Amino acid sequence: MYSIPEDAMTGTAEMLFDFIAECISDFLASQDLKHKKLPLGFTFSFPVRHEDIDKGILLNWTKGFTASGAEGNNVVDLLRDAIKRRGDFEMDVVAMVNDTVATMVSCHYEDHRCEVGMIVGTGCNACYMEEMSRVELVEGEGEGGRMCVNTEWGAFGDSGELEDFRLEYDRKVDEASLNPGQQLPKPVKPTVPHCRPNPTPCSPHRYEKLISGKYLGEQVRLVLLKLANEKLLFGGEVSEQLQTRGSFDTCFVSQIEGDSGDRKQIYNILWKLGLRPSALDCDIVRLACEGVSTRAARLCGAGLAAIIDCMREHRGQGELEITVGVDGSVYKLHPCFKDKFHKTVRDLAPRCDITFIQSEEGSGRGAALISAVASKMAS
Ligand code: BGC
Repeated sequence: MYSIPEDAMTGTAEMLFDFIAECISDFLASQDLKHKKLPLGFTFSFPVRHEDIDKGILLNWTKGFTASGAEGNNVVDLLRDAIKRRGDFEMDVVAMVNDTVATMVSCHYEDHRCEVGMIVGTGCNACYMEEMSRVELVEGEGEGGRMCVNTEWGAFGDSGELEDFRLEYDRKVDEASLNPGQQLPKPVKPTVPHCRPNPTPCSPHRYEKLISGKYLGEQVRLVLLKLANEKLLFGGEVSEQLQTRGSFDTCFVSQIEGDSGDRKQIYNILWKLGLRPSALDCDIVRLACEGVSTRAARLCGAGLAAIIDCMREHRGQGELEITVGVDGSVYKLHPCFKDKFHKTVRDLAPRCDITFIQSEEGSGRGAALISAVASKMAS
């Protein structure tokens, strides 16, 4: 596991892909594999126009990434170029996949009824197996079989569909984000070879901003700030930290809701944020966290129920038995998200019998499985 430093996320595409190549080199060295030219599967968790199994044009960054010179270009080439620039190892990049797809594939390996993949982590997205006859964009439409569709549902709402649900906090979160939504997405022309400078038209990813871990903590901070400014919390005292964007980490939401009832965890977190809460303040903060995470779980559950019920209809079945592979920190680490989310999906898709399986390292293992198949087919 390597975490991507902030300057690589927000610098240039070269900086970002050089960092990725450096991590691969380091990993190969640690496994004593540097001399081998291995097939590589590249999980790239952003919206792309997939033109081939090893070709994806980045449409727009999400989740706070802004590296310039990547949007509009083939990210597999960006990786290949970075590997060439280093020159200390060779790799055959055979496939590029979204993390939802990799998750679905790795879970399918264990449970063949798994035909949906979902991530609720820093970002949020889902993919599913659609009837080929319904896929209009590729040759073979009208034929039998199924094809995986990456919905990129994080961008749902970008044409105004969620306006009835968005609150003042959501608008603030969007405006302050690195991928704000003043503009609607336009198709981006590929301009390989790179680099095209930012700014580019970007997708605000409004649905994702209501649900995913990148934004939940910030939503809570804005709620608390408003309550404190209205003298309904902390005796009206607002610390500098609470006024600082990004100071309320999403993991605090999990920790606060995971408090055993003695408020110790809640006190600790609020003290570190320079606040001096009363017992009632702690209870109110917990309620704010519950409000934000419950809304996220229900909105996300509504999205998945819509997809699954649609699959049932497209298959012409009265009842559908299906497994969903899920990954992501919010789903796995938040103490109540999962249960509320499952309940919502089951309530809203009553004709479907749904099993959820938690994926372990699915986005890496799924990409490896896909690459193994792709390189076998090519040879
Ligand atoms: C990206 C998706 C990705 C999701 C989960 C979103 O921001 O657009 O491609 O699957 O995050 O990582």
